[in-house]
Amino acid sequence: MRGRMKLAIDGRAVELPEGATVLDGVNRLGIPLPQLCKDPDGAPLGACRTCLVHVEGQKGLPAACHLPARDGMVVSTEHPDAVRVRRGVLDLTLSMLTPSPERAGFAQVGDAAARHGLLEPSQAPLHRFDVDATKSFFVLDREACILCGRCTVACGEVQQIGAISLVGRGHATRVGVFGDGAMAASVCTSCGQCVATCPTGALRPKETPAKIVRRVETTSARTAASAAASRSACSRGSRAGGGAPFFKPTNAWP
Ligand code: SF4
Ligand code: FES
Repeated sequence: MRGRMKLAIDGRAVELPEGATVLDGVNRLGIPLPQLCKDPDGAPLGACRTCLVHVEGQKGLPAACHLPARDGMVVSTEHPDAVRVRRGVLDLTLSMLTPSPERAGFAQVGDAAARHGLLEPSQAPLHRFDVDATKSFFVLDREACILCGRCTVACGEVQQIGAISLVGRGHATRVGVFGDGAMAASVCTSCGQCVATCPTGALRPKETPAKIVRRVETTSARTAASAAASRSACSRGSRAGGGAPFFKPTNAWP
């Protein structure tokens, strides 16, 4: 069929439409490849480098989220080189985080690290940030943040609010608001998009919300999207991309 491409990923055939990425094929096959900075509904950011794969006849290990699918491609997520380098990237990523009971294993990061045999990182984080709990329904816990940028894109490009961005330099880089103040003093509207997309639980609800007693009809697409995001965030803490389940704390290193 015109406009369709046939690939092999981990020895399994998959057919994709024109314009699809290798990551689309990986996800279609349900292969649990890490994809920490890729919002399932958004464009690839290419920031986390945890989706590296091996492609037959191609040098290096490209990021699957940015790799256009081509007819006849032979891709492996399990190639020893891809697994080794991904494991190194996940080790460095995990090294940015400080474990605690509230951080509950860091969701998708902990899940991906455990699948690569990493129960604790080889380095300790070089920063200490306070938790910003000034908003009423969620917290911004920078000790659980991997700087993937998903929240800033959700806030700036999806919701067009621009309350948060990555600020500072080097080890002091963090998610912050204008003037480096508190979240509550920013233009944040508590729409919940950032909480819904965060892959680690750094942005997470404070508590389980009360039951809905009366539904309100919404007509605006944006209002509907925000409501969906808030429901998702409040019910699960964070959305697990690529079909991964919410991570259970099996790697709470001391
Ligand atoms: S708060 Fe979450 S979504 Fe935002 S940069 Fe950190 S890990 Fe990514
Ligand atoms: S998901 Fe591909 S680089 Fe992050």
